[in-house]
Amino acid sequence: MPSNAILTLDDKQITLPLIVGTENERALDVRALRDKTGYITFDEGYGNTGSCQSSITYIDGEQGILRYRGYSIEQLAQQSNFIEVAYLIIHGELPTLEQRKQFSGMLTENSPIHSSMEHLFENFPADAHPMAILSAMINSLGCYYPHLATNDHERDVETYYETAAQIISKVRSLAACSFRSSRGLPFIYPRRDLPYCENFLHMMFSEPYHQYVAKPEVAAALNLFLLLHADHEQNCSTSTVRMVASSGANLFASTAAGVCALWGPLHGGANMAVIEMLKSIHAEGDDGTKFVEQAKLGKADKRLMGFGHRVYKNYDPRAKIIKQSFYSALSALKIKDDPLLNIAMRLEEAALKDDYFLSRRLYPNVDFYSGLIMRAIGIPENMFTVMFAIGRMPGWIANWKEVASNPKGRINRPRQIYTGSQKRDFVPIDQRR
Ligand code: CMC
Repeated sequence: MPSNAILTLDDKQITLPLIVGTENERALDVRALRDKTGYITFDEGYGNTGSCQSSITYIDGEQGILRYRGYSIEQLAQQSNFIEVAYLIIHGELPTLEQRKQFSGMLTENSPIHSSMEHLFENFPADAHPMAILSAMINSLGCYYPHLATNDHERDVETYYETAAQIISKVRSLAACSFRSSRGLPFIYPRRDLPYCENFLHMMFSEPYHQYVAKPEVAAALNLFLLLHADHEQNCSTSTVRMVASSGANLFASTAAGVCALWGPLHGGANMAVIEMLKSIHAEGDDGTKFVEQAKLGKADKRLMGFGHRVYKNYDPRAKIIKQSFYSALSALKIKDDPLLNIAMRLEEAALKDDYFLSRRLYPNVDFYSGLIMRAIGIPENMFTVMFAIGRMPGWIANWKEVASNPKGRINRPRQIYTGSQKRDFVPIDQRR
């Protein structure tokens, strides 16, 4: 395999090095292109741009493969759990028994939030979106731990494992508090005896006079949901985390920015958008057939939410796993005949036979079923994307570390092709028309 490529530009030939990843992914290294030729590359939406080298997650979108640190998502989903996977992603290796105990202990220790932080929730309007609250609160968290948020990468990397445990643990408490404050409900404190997912469900649904006890199937469905979202390579929110980190910003600030990027309906907001779409199809008395026809017109506001992916041109492997577990969760919860589920199944069936979707290689993505799972376990719709953020936190954290500990790292600063007015003279206001 050659190690260079020759590019001919304006009758000049230049040599560009090739980079090959451990799974034989190939790239053209264009870093010297502008210096040598005056040209830049143009790739709006970054569909063809490798923005970094990373050893966290591998995706083969053509084959529908997803691996965290080399382990297949299918094996992890079957044999591991979210906390072990979070450790794997953050530390790079699976924990020993002792390391897992220690990590779980750190999560338990760090789960309560500072009491003065509780008052911050009171100042949000009652109908504030939990994603806005979550992002603000994660950034505020850094104010309570200034020694972990110095904005000096060398120092922040030294405390990385402590900060990572703080965020993984507290994001769940903050998420539950944002839900409870939006409902005007008192905060429920975490319990030391409960595992991660059960503790989250307790903080969401217990009352001072009534203890919520999660069914094992419900906790398992939540565990799987979080595990399947734990990292996903250079998506919009992870790239945002890396972009913010590249300026030297601390882990709290960088992950808070990730929450904002995740919020949009084309990214993490899609799980909520799927349910909204299913509800509106149901309300209009459509069985899904009309909606599929509209989605084929290509209008942005009529897309089949939960379908299509920038990287997967095959069934999203996470969608396959979550779909299987969905049915076992439904039967454990004794949920039968959900009209939205029936519509979802019809939509999927219709789209998978239709040439519009087949020719564009649009298949169900993880969000097609994850909204339905969240709904089945009682998570309110405006919290769906918050759940995604809890799950994605290990990936954002590990990506921050790669940026912060890269001795050759540079601030991310893309260029542009300017298409505005050419130089012109200022016109005084009395002469403007
Ligand atoms: N329904 C109908 N048509 C679609 C859809 C869809 N869901 N997705 C893409 N298309 C069409 C699009 O109109 C275009 O058609 P044409 O070639 O005729 O112009 C073609 O397929 C390619 O689409 P694209 O916009 O170039 O694809 P993209 O890679 O820029 O966008 C996407 C990927 C996920 C934003 C898009 O497929 C989409 O909007 N899907 C619905 C939202 C969704 O489910 N998002 C969750 C993604 S998975 C969770 C995550 O990792 O964030």
